[in-house]
Amino acid sequence: MIIGYYDKTGDQQSRARWQQLLQTAFARPNLARLNLAGPDFVALDSAAGRHADIALVWGPPAGLLASCKRLRLIISLGQGVDHIMRDPDLPDTVPVCRLVDPDMAHALSQWVIAVLLDHLRDGPAYREQAAGRVFQQRPQIQTLDLPVAVYGLGAIGRVIAERLAAIGFQVLGWAASQKSLPDIACHSGPAGWQHCLQTARAHICILPLTKKTENLFNAKAFAQMPKASYFINGGRGRQLVEEDLLAAIQSGQLAGAALDVFRTEPLPEEHAFWLEPRITIWPHVAARTNPETASRQVIAAIEAVLDGQLPANLLDRTRGY
Ligand SMILES: NC(=O)c1ccc[n+]([C@@H]2O[C@H](COP(=O)([O-])OP(=O)(O)OC[C@H]3O[C@@H](n4cnc5c(N)ncnc54)[C@H](OP(=O)(O)O)[C@@H]3O)[C@@H](O)[C@H]2O)c1
Repeated sequence: MIIGYYDKTGDQQSRARWQQLLQTAFARPNLARLNLAGPDFVALDSAAGRHADIALVWGPPAGLLASCKRLRLIISLGQGVDHIMRDPDLPDTVPVCRLVDPDMAHALSQWVIAVLLDHLRDGPAYREQAAGRVFQQRPQIQTLDLPVAVYGLGAIGRVIAERLAAIGFQVLGWAASQKSLPDIACHSGPAGWQHCLQTARAHICILPLTKKTENLFNAKAFAQMPKASYFINGGRGRQLVEEDLLAAIQSGQLAGAALDVFRTEPLPEEHAFWLEPRITIWPHVAARTNPETASRQVIAAIEAVLDGQLPANLLDRTRGY
């Protein structure tokens, strides 16, 4: 079996760890029953990669997957699949699956809580005061039962919503299908979207990037939020119309934003966001793939395919996520 690996970030340390984890796993007696030679772990964009059975990828260039004619499974190295779906030549007969790693939901929910509380408890202002040795109390914002909305109630959004409820927020959630979750006021559809926008004081996006979610957070959406709301994006950059966010903050409609994802990454040096102190910029680090935990799912997915079954967490091409 040949596993072809491609990571557009070029992180060699991570690549070495994946290779070690997968080769060790497939050498263990319980997987030895699969009678695999190897597995060989090769660069997907090399000559050997053309013969890969399994592709393990993050941001593959258009056409690369189509050029590998023996592929039996494409596995996303992250929880999102938009980086694979944007390839116009994506082979339509090869199943695509994504990671669903509790470690990712854990990390992302902690990031949301960190940036939200930093904003609500005046972290930036107190840091500025401290730099000038000013010891001065500011009014404390009431956060008990403060309404916050989580857009996307999937593997990650659900954990974020539960944890925000556990620390005293009144949590609204929005998803494509209607959910019923303890302690979360769940909404769906256009009416649910309006209600969440108009009610919450903080808005947390953790949606997958699809045709329906692209540009969702725009001037029209910001105008419906209560004045001085806060926006947090842990989903994908293309879900936000960046100039509309900037205008909403500069007009005072929004108090600020914490962003982990951007339309162009790395965020260009000349981007206006760098000059707006009310926007906190994170370089796509809210939840990084942890090979130690994620490799368990990759191994299970490969095993399923080799056993002639469909792996878990398959991409639904009609929905786009
Ligand atoms: N910043 C980071 O470091 C980082 C790390 C990991 C993931 N992410 C992003 O987080 C996203 C979500 O991951 P996940 O594992 O939680 O995904 P998931 O399990 O597929 O959940 C997606 C959620 O979004 C909802 N949704 C999708 N399209 C919608 C629409 N048009 N209207 C309303 N709701 C919609 C889904 O509704 P249903 O439940 O009804 O299907 C579901 O609740 C990923 O796609 C990725 O872009 C970012």
